[in-house]
Amino acid sequence: MSRNTDATACTLRTRQIDQYSPCRAIVRSNNLPKLPVPPLQQTCVRYLASLEPLISEEEMTHTHKLMDEFLRPGGVGERLQKSLERRARKTENWLTDWWMQSSYLDSRMPVAMYTSPGVVLPKMHLQDRQGQMRFAAKLIAGVLDFKSMIDSDTLPVEYLGGKPLCMDQYYQVLSSCRIPGPKRDTVVNYAIGKTPPTHITVVHNFQFFVLDVYNSDGSPLTVDQLYVQLEKIWNSSLQTNKEPVGILTSNHRNTWGKAYNNLIKDKTNKESVRSIQKSIFTVCLDAPKPRVSDEMYFNKVAAQMLHGGGSRWNSGNRWFDKTLQFIIGEDGSCGLTYEHAPAEGPPIVFLVDHVVDYMKRSEMVRTPMIPLSMPQKLRFNITPEIKKDIEKAKQNMNIMVHDLDVRVLNFTHYGRKFPKSHKMSPDAFIQMALQLAYYRMYQTCCPTYESTSLRMFKLGRTEAVRSTTTESLQFTKAMDDPSKHVQNSEKAALLEKAIKFLFPCDQAIHGQGIERHMLGLKMIAIEDLTSLPEIFMDTSFAVASHFNLYTSQVGSKTDCVMCLGPMVPDGYGICYNPMDDHINFAVTAFNSCEETNATKLSQFLEDSLLDMKTLLEQVSKTQ
Ligand code: COA
Repeated sequence: MSRNTDATACTLRTRQIDQYSPCRAIVRSNNLPKLPVPPLQQTCVRYLASLEPLISEEEMTHTHKLMDEFLRPGGVGERLQKSLERRARKTENWLTDWWMQSSYLDSRMPVAMYTSPGVVLPKMHLQDRQGQMRFAAKLIAGVLDFKSMIDSDTLPVEYLGGKPLCMDQYYQVLSSCRIPGPKRDTVVNYAIGKTPPTHITVVHNFQFFVLDVYNSDGSPLTVDQLYVQLEKIWNSSLQTNKEPVGILTSNHRNTWGKAYNNLIKDKTNKESVRSIQKSIFTVCLDAPKPRVSDEMYFNKVAAQMLHGGGSRWNSGNRWFDKTLQFIIGEDGSCGLTYEHAPAEGPPIVFLVDHVVDYMKRSEMVRTPMIPLSMPQKLRFNITPEIKKDIEKAKQNMNIMVHDLDVRVLNFTHYGRKFPKSHKMSPDAFIQMALQLAYYRMYQTCCPTYESTSLRMFKLGRTEAVRSTTTESLQFTKAMDDPSKHVQNSEKAALLEKAIKFLFPCDQAIHGQGIERHMLGLKMIAIEDLTSLPEIFMDTSFAVASHFNLYTSQVGSKTDCVMCLGPMVPDGYGICYNPMDDHINFAVTAFNSCEETNATKLSQFLEDSLLDMKTLLEQVSKTQ
């Protein structure tokens, strides 16, 4: 990301979303096709092919035997497929509820770092506290402007590859919140109730406030009015010795579930919690962090977005269950974090693009001031038991913070224009660079997960593509061939072939992926059968699903980058935003794992991208 920029200087580019339709988002999902259940044989053949680069011949032989048994005519595979097809006929989307449940709401890991992504925006040059308030006021107004499109069903429908996308996720991100449960969480969307909320929550120095953002005539507060209200909040939350109640939301879900019941036993606490949950979104006015070198700046901001920096800094200045939390630091750091259960990254960054655009246009216009009431401070009665829970949550958060290594790589040598000029898909090209980087670091490949959209279908979420293929392994091996016998032309041909073999991305977005189909077959087996078919208990299945590389492209017009934690203890979380002439990456890894190192992988990634460019240029010259 470019340093030294402000909101008005954010680079714009055309998104992967091809065009806008004037038709209204009321067709947010109604007219879309249902997610198909792919043919069983097709998925199984592709599944076996995806194992090839990852497991031994011996394991492969064993898995083939299990697959033959699974696919036996009249056997368990056929039965499960029929059940799944029945479910698909009866439901709007056979996958979405299972996906939300199994990936998010059943997970007992903390949402902070483990499932909630962060988004880092370019640094703002805020001179002082007033600058922070002014920026926050404009940002709030921008989000409310976006909300007005949702409320009036005038959100432009997005398209991908010429096909309209499901807009439902946009209706889930405002006024919603995750609620902890003892075994399973829920998400409540207050926008669909009889009295949709008209307030946001603002948190400063760990103190929460209700800020009404609409006038009595229903018009949104102006930037000017918001600024005045934010000043009032700031001035009445100067004490820094308050209990960070919000840090409770960062704990393991079972622990938080118990602490939650304890917290809301008190009527005042219950009302305060409800106000936060019901609010349209949260704005976190963060305290400044210790100064760091320019080189480290974005790493620190990414960490701030993911977890707040620990209990001494801003981790208590959050309500991690809240779907959308915008974060604005006194030092100009800004971005957001969001709770993943209701939506994926693309709708979130689309909202960000709109807000950034809005902020460029909006000026502080002095409006005649009708006195507004003081925003309500939310009170919490802290009993000794709650205090104990807060202390436990602080300790846990500090351990997590120390464990997460976050690197933001601003690759400035070229952007997505370069692979395009060589007639290659930028996304597949970057995936191959990740393969090469990993291979160079470990001299082997690993299971790789890339998120792809299923929003061409009604209520569609994501599919995952396994981007480590036999072809990608051939390319990475050839690139660093120790015998030096492989010619550049051959390396380039292998790269081209590996990129072409990433067409699973295309199959995946059209509902023909293997990952979610396998999940569906497994889930239906759990529901229908007394025992799980062996194919799901096979070592190969476990090995190939241990995604050491968990990757996601979240492209945006704004020069930002999304970041997320690794999926497995010995893995990496990698997000990237390919802009026209540069690429923003965020790489995370756990410090507790001796084998992983985010800085080292980022370095290998930079070198790989450079080497791949040199290779293509050299080969082009000789042609
Ligand atoms: N030659 C020239 N140009 C090419 C090309 C080729 N062979 N192949 C692709 N391109 C172009 C495309 O036309 C497109 O052009 P545009 O920028 O003018 O629209 C551009 O390169 C980008 O295409 P590509 O990199 O192939 O794919 P993408 O940007 O559409 O991204 C996915 C691919 C899989 C990431 C995307 O489809 C997707 O699913 N995104 C959602 C991911 C998601 O939900 N993540 C969840 C995060 S929580």
